[in-house]
Amino acid sequence: MIQKPKGTYDVFGEKGKTILYIEELLKALMKQYNYEYFRTPLFEVSELFHRGVGSTTDIVTKETYDFKDRGNRDMTLRPEGTAGITRSFVENKIYGNASQPVKTWYYGPMYRYERPQSGRFREFYQFGVEVFGSDSASIDAEVISIAVNIYRLLGLKGIKVNINSLGDTESRDNYRKALKEYFRPHLNTLCEDCKQRFDKNPLRILDCKIDSNKEIMKQAPTTIDYLNEYSKKHFEDLQKYLKSLNIEFIVNPKIVRGLDYYTHTVFEVEASIKDFGSQNVLCGGGRYNGLIEQIGGPSINGVGFALGLERLLAALESENINLIKDDNLDIYIIPMSENELEKVFSLANHLRLNGFSTDIDYMNRNLKSNFKQADRLKSKFIAIIGEEEIKNNKITIKNNNTKEEYKIDIDKIIDFLDQNCN
Ligand code: HAM
Repeated sequence: MIQKPKGTYDVFGEKGKTILYIEELLKALMKQYNYEYFRTPLFEVSELFHRGVGSTTDIVTKETYDFKDRGNRDMTLRPEGTAGITRSFVENKIYGNASQPVKTWYYGPMYRYERPQSGRFREFYQFGVEVFGSDSASIDAEVISIAVNIYRLLGLKGIKVNINSLGDTESRDNYRKALKEYFRPHLNTLCEDCKQRFDKNPLRILDCKIDSNKEIMKQAPTTIDYLNEYSKKHFEDLQKYLKSLNIEFIVNPKIVRGLDYYTHTVFEVEASIKDFGSQNVLCGGGRYNGLIEQIGGPSINGVGFALGLERLLAALESENINLIKDDNLDIYIIPMSENELEKVFSLANHLRLNGFSTDIDYMNRNLKSNFKQADRLKSKFIAIIGEEEIKNNKITIKNNNTKEEYKIDIDKIIDFLDQNCN
């Protein structure tokens, strides 16, 4: 038997219904926030991620799915959405739009060649937002509030918002120097990768999966101590705006994020999912003021976040939240024999186009098994059409809850369902 690739999963049944529910909620929410839908390719030229995400990050050095296409070009399946959306923003010159900031959202599969475990897949779905063109910390707060409100709307209780600031280029440079001074005498205690990171990008030492629990990591200098005046003010403003939105947060100087593009605000929202360890991070994001220029665009700033669908589903499960309360069918129509199937078929079409979830018997079942099928489908109403009904242009409808029966004109069925289906 051919099996699915490691780190992937199939969707069907209840999980499919829950995912569709979440997708609808996200779409509606984005309309309320006035964000615009973007879709970019699943693969991009590899260089985009080297420049965007960072060539020393774990994502780019160890986790990308890289391939050569038949024209011998280096391509990569996207490991995240920010680089692609930013490329699109630059390539389509959307920065020239009169209306700023440009607020975007996206949703789709991402690919990382990671060791599969609970909450960690090789193909996973991200919903994310990216906002271009504003320096104001109010936009950072709005982005964080979108993440928090999604979890609130879905009913999750045990979430924790961690925020930190990496500061602007000057602050980051000062911090980088301090980190190097700190780690230099301890270099021989670090893993081989970290020794490389020390020269190329010392910040990456802090999210090393091998060294993370060592004492030396715990005592490392934190970004907050190296913020210059502008960066400090930006971080204070962020906290002020979050408070105005009633969002509880923790300033956690250990949050540095695993992608290179961040400046100023970084944040992560955690849940407490049993046995999930570091995969408890439901979403993460922050500000990336240099990325658009790095990708070849003008000097415009950006901020965004992305949440993982799979971890959200796991968090809902661990808090016993069932989103699918009403997945009842409105009506199940039974033809008494094959002679009435044509009529039943066209009636079902008519009802579906008028907004009623409708199903019929395609299997030529007897009446008893048809009633059982209607129960399995949790149908609110059962309708029967036989020779007699067709002759008199009537239909017999039974309320499957109260068991009351009605005989009505076939032409009146929409009115009947309008009044009786809520
Ligand atoms: P990230 O922290 O790498 O950030 O990923 C964001 C979220 O995607 C994670 O919090 C997690 O829920 C989910 N995720 C990541 N990797 C996996 C995996 N292997 N399996 C399942 N879920 C996963 C980014 O991707 C940035 N682009 C976020 C961002 C947007 N920053 C600014 N704008």
